[in-house]
Amino acid sequence: MHVEIKQGNIEKVKTDLLIIPIFKGFESSEEIFKRMDRKLNNLLSDIVKEDETVGDEDKFTLIFTGKKIIAERILLAGLGDNNKFTAEKIRKFGGKTFQQAKSHNIQDFCLLSFGYGLKNIQVEEATQALAEGLVMGSYAFDQFKTKKNGKKKEIKSMSIFPIHELEVEQVKQGIAVGNVIGSAVNVVRDMINKPANIMTPTNFANEARIACRNSKIKCKILGKVQLKKEKMNLVMAVGQGSVQEPKMVILEYKPGKKYPFYALIGKGVTYDSGGLNLKPGKWLAEMKDDKGGAAAIVGAMVGIAKLKLPVNLIGILPCAENMPDGNAVKPGDILKSASGKTVEILNTDAEGRLLLADALYYASKLKPEAMIDIASLTGACIVALGYSTSGVFGTDQALIQGLLNAGEKAGEKAWQLPLDEEHTELIKADNADIRNLGGDDGLDAGASTAAAFLKEFTSSIKWAHIDIGGTVYTKRDLAYCQKGATGAGTRLLIQFFRDLCNGQQHH
Ligand code: BES
Ligand code: ZN
Repeated sequence: MHVEIKQGNIEKVKTDLLIIPIFKGFESSEEIFKRMDRKLNNLLSDIVKEDETVGDEDKFTLIFTGKKIIAERILLAGLGDNNKFTAEKIRKFGGKTFQQAKSHNIQDFCLLSFGYGLKNIQVEEATQALAEGLVMGSYAFDQFKTKKNGKKKEIKSMSIFPIHELEVEQVKQGIAVGNVIGSAVNVVRDMINKPANIMTPTNFANEARIACRNSKIKCKILGKVQLKKEKMNLVMAVGQGSVQEPKMVILEYKPGKKYPFYALIGKGVTYDSGGLNLKPGKWLAEMKDDKGGAAAIVGAMVGIAKLKLPVNLIGILPCAENMPDGNAVKPGDILKSASGKTVEILNTDAEGRLLLADALYYASKLKPEAMIDIASLTGACIVALGYSTSGVFGTDQALIQGLLNAGEKAGEKAWQLPLDEEHTELIKADNADIRNLGGDDGLDAGASTAAAFLKEFTSSIKWAHIDIGGTVYTKRDLAYCQKGATGAGTRLLIQFFRDLCNGQQHH
């Protein structure tokens, strides 16, 4: 669902629910507020005066207008302290507001803009964050439920009403960008939430193609024959225990030769059983989420293309299903990667790095300015950073810093983890060039040894790696994300390229 703009006369706005955001200590000096207040016999100003908690964060107060204005219900929505207001707080506010509105069993709501005095943040940025929060907050993965949750009505439209003529342009711009980013995230969530029986590598590739339709992105899908021709034996190996054919999706967004060129690589394991190193049952149900890196790149590129950013991108998404069977890759097997380096397999569950290795090498041959990969690569990253922060590694500090900054702005927590010679030391193999397991059991600095493995295939091109092992899904409902896939990485990547195109970064 998208956010629209509504304009006109506030008393006449037709909506099931008019939502008025209110800061702590709110003074109702705005004309628009006073006008409504008069129509409502000072009901609004009385509440604000009498109840000092109305402006508290997470506080929602419902008022019936007795039809004194067209909207029959008003919801006062507390924003907390204006001095501590941030874009991320607004996103959360958007998500919670959507859930509140939904609980009133209505079909449409309209929110007043923040025009009456934001202290720390510009109207455009605030509106963008609000639209993102509303759009992401409206997401539910319910397409496989034949009966919807008992509620009679569903919200069909939501809008923002600018309270000053002066801010209309900024509100419009913020809504436009917020809609693009929020819906990009929702596309990613859908791709990840769809289970492995539906999202086979073949279907994932087709869905990626569908997502790119109507955008300036070209989509190519490589099958077994082309993968073999490119000598991508590691990609093939990951898929060889499955009846599903591995695929490689190549997305190209090329708005103009004069712009910088970046490669994005995403892990697309549509299901990770672990292979012969079968995962314990507890983890098995979550491993449909192992395609989250690839999905994030589809979403980010669609978003970037819609925002018409001046940057050339190639997205490389190796997709495979990791299964155990008579033909599956076995611990001890030695494989030759596309780059020529040989790899000794010591654990078939460390398969993501294999796919990414061939994909990184493929990308490196195209000589991009830099390569960024994103993958639900390790459980070790969860041990290090938990479920709310992604790990960032790389060979170029400016690139890494750019990603960290973008994460901060986009409301996606990210933290740099070390990648040192000592980690590279741990992936030396007895019987081949390198092994796919760091140290004895892959547990010591497991996220770093996985990154060290990837580094071997980057051919000295600037590179960064984002491990979304913990952030790809959430086990509980969050402010703007219900239980399930989060869409991690999508907003971060879009923000990174927005910053890059704004000349805020130079590599
Ligand atoms: N898909 C997993 C990583 C993962 C685990 C993501 C749990 C999210 C939640 C990856 O393919 C994997 O299995 N990694 C192993 C590597 C180990 C065998 C070196 C891991 O982290 O346990
Ligand atoms: Zn695995």
